[in-house]
Amino acid sequence: MRIYERYTEAELNEIGLSGRIPEHVGIIMDGNGRWAKQRLMPRTFGHRAGMEALHEIVREAHCLGIKALTVYAFSTENWRRPVQEVNALFGLLTEYFEKEIDELDANGVRIVALGDLDPFPQKVKACMTDAIERTKNNTGLSFCIAINYGSRAEIVRAIKKIMLSGVPADEVGEDTVTSNLYTAGLPELDLIIRTAGEERLSNFLLWQAAYAEFVFTPVCWPDFDTAEFRRCIIEFMKRTRRFGKVVE
Ligand code: IPE
Ligand code: IPE
Ligand code: MG
Repeated sequence: MRIYERYTEAELNEIGLSGRIPEHVGIIMDGNGRWAKQRLMPRTFGHRAGMEALHEIVREAHCLGIKALTVYAFSTENWRRPVQEVNALFGLLTEYFEKEIDELDANGVRIVALGDLDPFPQKVKACMTDAIERTKNNTGLSFCIAINYGSRAEIVRAIKKIMLSGVPADEVGEDTVTSNLYTAGLPELDLIIRTAGEERLSNFLLWQAAYAEFVFTPVCWPDFDTAEFRRCIIEFMKRTRRFGKVVE
């Protein structure tokens, strides 16, 4: 089992990453199907390769000192896919946790689920909730899996929770909404990376993306490696974030 070491300042310098590392990175892992098609293979072959790509990215996020990594694994709209593909995705997810949980836990990674786990088959749900429960007190990287996640559903859920709490309307502020989303307690989202050349959010972290930077890469997710991840972060570091202010 590998123990992940944080990069030293000198190492970060060497790889061109000394500066402001984003605290919270979201990744829309797209292009598994196209990657497989290019190889004349079934889409699920691409999903398997995609699952394998995730391993190194989580490790790299930890080593870079990123505090939270949120990956989009299954959207509320992905139920529209053929049932065989949906089931294959669930199988891979279960396999991922069975394979990775010991290493993630040993490295202090805290697993968080964003989304409604209820509709999932019992085995998938159990393996996710076990991983969450087992790692809940870890203080390293927060590794958030957006699964059966849709940002509109998340916002509707937050509104319902706020209404049920009985808070008076004039006491509802942005913080009230933020703290009722799945991402409550996580750092502000700094960067969204989307692979495979698409340039849209597809219902990912709409509220949280208010001031996030976007980096799009043509690389399909199964080919997304640490070198490409670093390039995306370097691109982020070059941006001037103004948050509405005048920045000379
Ligand atoms: C992303 O790859 C994985 C999921 C959405 C689960 P896709 O399956 O969307 O791959 P493309 O976009 O069809 O190539
Ligand atoms: C977004 O990708 C969802 C995930 C990466 C899990 P999709 O491939 O489903 O998005 P669209 O349909 O191209 O917008
Ligand atoms: Mg896609």
